[in-house]
Amino acid sequence: MEHKFKRILYGGDYNPNQWPEEIWKEDMRILKDARINSATINVFSWAKIQPSEETYDFDELDRIIDMLSRENYDIVLATATGALPAWMAKRYPEVERTDYEGRHHKFGRRHNACPNSPVFQKFSAAMAAKLAKRYGNNEHVVCYHVSNEYGGRCYCENCEKAFRVWLRKKYRTLDALNAAWNMEFWGHLIGDWDEIVLPNELGEGIGKHKTAFAGLSIDYRRFNSDSILENFKAERDAIRRFDKKTPITTNLMGTYKELDYFKWAKEMDIVSWDNYPAYDTPWSYTAMCHDLMRGLKDEPFMLMEQTPSQQNWQKYNSLKRPGQMRAQSYQTMAHGADTIQFFQLRRSVGGCEKFHGAVIAHAGTENTRVFREVQQLGKELESFGSETLGSANPAQVGVIFDWDNYWALEYTSGPTEDLKYVDQIHQYYRYFYNKNIPVHMIPVDADFGRYRVIVAPVLYMVKEGMKEALEKFVREGGTLITTYMSGIVDQSDNVHLGGYPGPLRDLAGVWVEEVDALAPEQFNKVVFEDGSVHSCGVLCDLMHLEGAEQLGVYESDFYAGMPAVTKNRFGEGTVYYIGTNLHEDGIEAVLDLAAEQSGVHSLVSEPTRLEISCRETEDFRYWFVINFQDEEQRIPTEFAGKTDLITGETVDANLLMKKYDVKIVKDRK
Ligand code: GLA
Ligand code: ZN
Repeated sequence: MEHKFKRILYGGDYNPNQWPEEIWKEDMRILKDARINSATINVFSWAKIQPSEETYDFDELDRIIDMLSRENYDIVLATATGALPAWMAKRYPEVERTDYEGRHHKFGRRHNACPNSPVFQKFSAAMAAKLAKRYGNNEHVVCYHVSNEYGGRCYCENCEKAFRVWLRKKYRTLDALNAAWNMEFWGHLIGDWDEIVLPNELGEGIGKHKTAFAGLSIDYRRFNSDSILENFKAERDAIRRFDKKTPITTNLMGTYKELDYFKWAKEMDIVSWDNYPAYDTPWSYTAMCHDLMRGLKDEPFMLMEQTPSQQNWQKYNSLKRPGQMRAQSYQTMAHGADTIQFFQLRRSVGGCEKFHGAVIAHAGTENTRVFREVQQLGKELESFGSETLGSANPAQVGVIFDWDNYWALEYTSGPTEDLKYVDQIHQYYRYFYNKNIPVHMIPVDADFGRYRVIVAPVLYMVKEGMKEALEKFVREGGTLITTYMSGIVDQSDNVHLGGYPGPLRDLAGVWVEEVDALAPEQFNKVVFEDGSVHSCGVLCDLMHLEGAEQLGVYESDFYAGMPAVTKNRFGEGTVYYIGTNLHEDGIEAVLDLAAEQSGVHSLVSEPTRLEISCRETEDFRYWFVINFQDEEQRIPTEFAGKTDLITGETVDANLLMKKYDVKIVKDRK
């Protein structure tokens, strides 16, 4: 099976430049003990390696790379362009961004270069080229890490000009543009390309999050994501001039809203991401993020960053409890990671991240709880060699995730402010997670035919071609699950006329005549055919059956008795339409029906509250069994007598797993 690395990279961000060289030697000694085999370096060193426009200084970086090479580290070499050098901001203020409020920024912080600044574009690509030329033939450099956590937005004049060019390419004529944004509304017709203004607070912005023309805003989002992607591509191409083969990545951030990661992933050799759950993030949410990151390329990914212990930037930076970091690392692997990397290897002495956890704490020794836990995991991962690398995560369920839809749904003015895209997706993902039914997070243009079930919650924007693709999928026997706020607009955010859910109306066999919005203190109930009752809220579709059968009806209000949840036969397949935001138990009731009827089932035959995932190579299956519950859980009987990859021992029947215990049950196919 194809994989990018020879071993599981186990390491993380390492900033020796913040320390005197005696400390580096100490680092090497300590980290070796934890089986750290990889370091991500040079992430924020631009000012150090290019101290002025005319001068470069690679002395220190040479020494760092020499040392790591001697110690046989796998080096993840960052291109240093995630934070601008002060001289550049001073000499070329255009490299700084203009914010939503119209203020042009000064030197400071990071991740804030204007993507459309020609000066930034030139200097960043030149830096990437210099690094690849200098270090590209070092066999210890196993991956390039371009910039860092790309994101944000810029509303400067360079961006505005570039936006006009981008729009011209997309629409060709102003008539097409005016139609796409429906500019007859409020008489905002554009008569000249130069009249187009970015949708900021000084323009179409209504408060911080909405604008008067969602079509314009969504195009700006697409443009901004593309602009930043061009920065990535420019550095990538600069690297490729000197290094033809080393994989190139940049670290993504899960469900981060600003960048269309499905588009980005096509340009990346491998996906990597930074996982920073809060103390109260549900395990299912983290699992979903991992699945999304794997889904971007439908390939294993790198965990570029996680904290070994604690963060600094959350409201409450609780410690990872004993065993938690290890369990979370295995959860990451279970969902497709081929590397486990930390931010960071040694804790900073100053700056806003001095309270951020690290493998080596301020105490500076290996004599800490956190270090011992890192060491234990390091020994375990080392013992696996390369055997799990590249293994796949098969699934029969695809959950659609789409950035255009994310933007569009959250730009709507009405019917409610409480509909958050990612939470909506997570509600449905969680059902499969709880049942240990593996899921692929898929883009709207995925090959639906690979799946038995497609779940498309709040599929608000139905773009060209999707109606046909979904109809084909269902006609040929697939099961589609979709919900309220689906099929409403086209790719420009204009409504599909003729009745909701527009292009999904035939498929769902329903017509939604009106949509009621319920305040947080209001709710309704759905009475199902079997007599069970489940509460619902947020939105209630008032719909009519057009061939579908009703599974449940509203209990109260003037639409009591109207269908709330339906099922429709379409060709060989079935569509479930959920017309209201059901509480978790209600979603479970409907999805149980859909799962049973479509023949998708849990990875294990007995009910369990353990998290179970399965990765496969050609010959083996690896069942990752993790207990995230507070109480002990019995391992499913089918794993008894099989081998645990971690210990090499046989799994006992009736084994009780404590919180954060992990087993990797290895089984020949
Ligand atoms: C991000 C960044 C790192 C560091 C960590 C702290 O992921 O990439 O440089 O700031 O957050 O959690
Ligand atoms: Zn800009």
